[in-house]
Amino acid sequence: MKKVTAIYPGSFDPPTNGHLDLVERGSKIFDELIVAVLRNSEKTPLFSIGERRHMLEELTAGFKNVRVDVFDGLTVHYASRVKASAMLRGIRALSDYEYELQMALMNRKLRPELETVFMMPAEKYSYLSSRLVREVARLGGDISKLVPEIVEQRLREKLDPAFKLQSRKEKAGRA
Ligand code: PNS
Repeated sequence: MKKVTAIYPGSFDPPTNGHLDLVERGSKIFDELIVAVLRNSEKTPLFSIGERRHMLEELTAGFKNVRVDVFDGLTVHYASRVKASAMLRGIRALSDYEYELQMALMNRKLRPELETVFMMPAEKYSYLSSRLVREVARLGGDISKLVPEIVEQRLREKLDPAFKLQSRKEKAGRA
């Protein structure tokens, strides 16, 4: 039977529990799932492309059929390079629908062979976005239920360099 490879493209700045929920769901229905991080977005990211790739690799290491990659340019061109026949996107609420529909139809126009598959994350993540996570973290709010532990740690280090120094000292003290 034909193997189905799907890409899951996005900015992942940073990866959230919602993204991971979708990775888990996607890994169950596709033979191979490639989490594809967009390198050159118009937005200025908080995390570098290497940092995002690293976090995602760590977070998805337990899924045998999931790998992480980085891409530039059009998503449809990347999809054809890796021979993906599907593209996974998450829809949290009705407000996502318009943008996602527009993107899916444009991608279909550009590459009809690529099918966009929408999945819904668990309801508890329906309000979650990377943008809100960055904002809450920047303003000192609790993000421990919103992102995996390693992402929380990296966010704290990024936003407060003194935190990085402190946790290095603590680790050295324990060694
Ligand atoms: O996580 P995001 O920021 O919602 O992901 C958006 C992403 C990366 C999927 C989208 O911006 C994208 O595909 N960008 C690559 C350029 C492209 O193909 N543009 C045409 C989209 S119709």
